[in-house]
Amino acid sequence: MGSESGSWLSKLAGGVKAALGAGQASPDADPAPNADPSAASIGVEPHAHLHPQLRAHHAKVCTAAEAAGRVQPGDHVFVGTACATPRVLVTALERLDLRPADVELVHFLTDHAVPHDMAGQATTHYRHRSFFVGHDIRAAVKQGLADYVPLSIARVPGLMAIGRIAVDVAFIQVSLPDEFGYVSLGVSVDVIPAAVAKARLVVAEVNPHMPRSMGDSTLHVDQIHALVPVDTPVIEYQHPPADAQAMEQIARYIGGIIEDGSTLQIGLGRVTNEALKHLVDRQDIGIHSDVVTDAIIPLLERGILTGRRKTHQPGKIVTSFAMGSRRLYELIDRNPLFSFQPIEVVCDPATLASQHKMVSVTQAWAVDLTGQVCADQFGGDFYAGLAAQGEFLRGASRSPGGKPIICLASTNAGTHGSTTDKPTESRIRPQLLPSEGVTVARTDVHYVITEFGIAYLFGKSIRERALALIEVAHPHFRAELFAQAQALGYIGAEQTLKNMRAYPVEDELTLKLKGNRAGQTVLMRPASSGDGDGIRDLFHRLSDRDRYTRFFRKIRGLSNRDVQRLCNLNFENEVAFVAVSGSRENPQIVAQSCYFIDPGTNLAETAFMVHPDWQGCGLGSALQLRMAQHAQGRGVRGFVAEIMASNEQMIRLARSGVAAGPAKVTVENSGSTVRVTALF
Ligand SMILES: CC(C)(COP(=O)(O)OP(=O)(O)OC[C@H]1O[C@@H](n2cnc3c(N)ncnc32)[C@H](O)[C@@H]1OP(=O)(O)O)[C@@H](O)C(=O)NCCC(=O)NCCS
Repeated sequence: MGSESGSWLSKLAGGVKAALGAGQASPDADPAPNADPSAASIGVEPHAHLHPQLRAHHAKVCTAAEAAGRVQPGDHVFVGTACATPRVLVTALERLDLRPADVELVHFLTDHAVPHDMAGQATTHYRHRSFFVGHDIRAAVKQGLADYVPLSIARVPGLMAIGRIAVDVAFIQVSLPDEFGYVSLGVSVDVIPAAVAKARLVVAEVNPHMPRSMGDSTLHVDQIHALVPVDTPVIEYQHPPADAQAMEQIARYIGGIIEDGSTLQIGLGRVTNEALKHLVDRQDIGIHSDVVTDAIIPLLERGILTGRRKTHQPGKIVTSFAMGSRRLYELIDRNPLFSFQPIEVVCDPATLASQHKMVSVTQAWAVDLTGQVCADQFGGDFYAGLAAQGEFLRGASRSPGGKPIICLASTNAGTHGSTTDKPTESRIRPQLLPSEGVTVARTDVHYVITEFGIAYLFGKSIRERALALIEVAHPHFRAELFAQAQALGYIGAEQTLKNMRAYPVEDELTLKLKGNRAGQTVLMRPASSGDGDGIRDLFHRLSDRDRYTRFFRKIRGLSNRDVQRLCNLNFENEVAFVAVSGSRENPQIVAQSCYFIDPGTNLAETAFMVHPDWQGCGLGSALQLRMAQHAQGRGVRGFVAEIMASNEQMIRLARSGVAAGPAKVTVENSGSTVRVTALF
């Protein structure tokens, strides 16, 4: 992409003016974001002053009122999407003196297509049918003026094609025609080709400010029956900043698990857009997304967004619509880096599944302890919708190395306040509320991320899911959730819950191994109650001798109580770390260590177990050092280890002290055992 990227980078750097063609927005002009078209002169040009690029098509040019007047009683009028909402046409339709009866407006996501009074009540004269409950349509849905259709937006074109979603008229917004008579659908391709294909009457607002997007995004003027010139800046959309600490923390977790070479779906969620800020040290990120926003711009500027490792359309930013600032639109204009495609093409399940390391993030409102997710109902109202998230979640689930992610603030305080605000309601619930439908089935859920950590549920049992979700719930609700999970039979009576604090992601560390595993890495992290099965597996890989030296007795198995003693700790006076090899989806615990503080001596007794295939690679030393740092931070005086006299490795390990400062080590022999004390 060398020279190509050079040109669009220069656009970002300020070469925009030079790149703009005749009729494009002046970069110095004031944008009018989300302006109410009813207040504007709605920019209709008299025919005498037709833009030169429209003169060849003057026979089709008319005013918005003339075009709206061609809508027949009973028509289903499709309204173009998001930042290409044809506001002028819809306003004209609302203002007709003689309004056609029984007209229904059909749309996905609109901006100022629904008139409202000062009190925020929708005042539309028509019924609406919407596939997403965005800001524009919310009041109308509540007032019973609009029907919400819970349907993947990717399936809408198919239903339009067979007439199950009726379209008689299409109101859209396009760029100026080029010398061949082609207009561009600009910032919104999405379902528009499907609507245009079925409409008896296609009316296009022709806007010189609309960028010419590249890809499969053109329409010939022959396919349009009426052209309505407008001259208004393209609607701009900026995500409000993630003001709450919780959102910021979730974004950081998401950013942390996105690997080099991943391909991302951005979606409309605020958190996902925020997460892109945390990819500054990543390489070769790609975009294959229903929508693109301004969040991609910094990544492009830093050379992180190369798309080089994408399986499908490498190097290209593949998308279906854009919602952002004028800066984004200027970047898109005539830029072959972008490939705008119809929504059903972008969301094709086979394409998504074949995309290497496909990452999809969905914001949810609630999740129950079995992993059922509600994402389109909030406080009893339908809110937002799934858009194309179902396709992306399933696609990412099938993709090699893919990551389908659900994220949510753990409490009602988490969305708008700080993590220290007193929450009154947990969004991780024993069961979803009666007013919360299941938008993502428990079988499809992989990652659930809150401000308290990352739970991985796919392939996990109900017990494992409940434990993992309780650990990412707000500490204020963990005991209650735990009791309810036990009452529901999800968790056995013998299970206890010790860790009431947030999972300390800052305590995670990638460790480079030595010896015969030099060059390999493992993740060293605090243990959690969900590690039980992995620790049991580790125990059974140990030799009889290792088991004996670790537990000082012949031991054939671990009881549930034993397992919890190794991973379900309070992290106050009892602490455990594990070393994990493999992906987060398929982890193998290869080492475990723990310390228990004796309040009488303020010394902590340590114990270790390392998988035989991983011994001698520095894991024991690294875990000891990590625990020493941790214990020093809690004011512990030193470590003490009771070791079998024959256990040379462990004696060497314990004697090696704790590296941070000149440790004072004493060794006491008492026949069959050795006691090594290392003061910090
Ligand atoms: C003891 C044990 C924890 C060491 O873990 P490890 O990951 O192999 O340790 P490291 O690779 O960090 O090596 C630690 C020290 O042991 C030495 N060591 C490692 N393998 C050794 C071997 N086969 N023979 C002798 N010394 C050995 C290392 O040289 C190093 O000493 P150094 O720092 O002076 O070079 C591990 O062998 C184990 O789990 N054993 C079984 C369970 C057990 O006995 N636990 C301890 C009970 S408290």
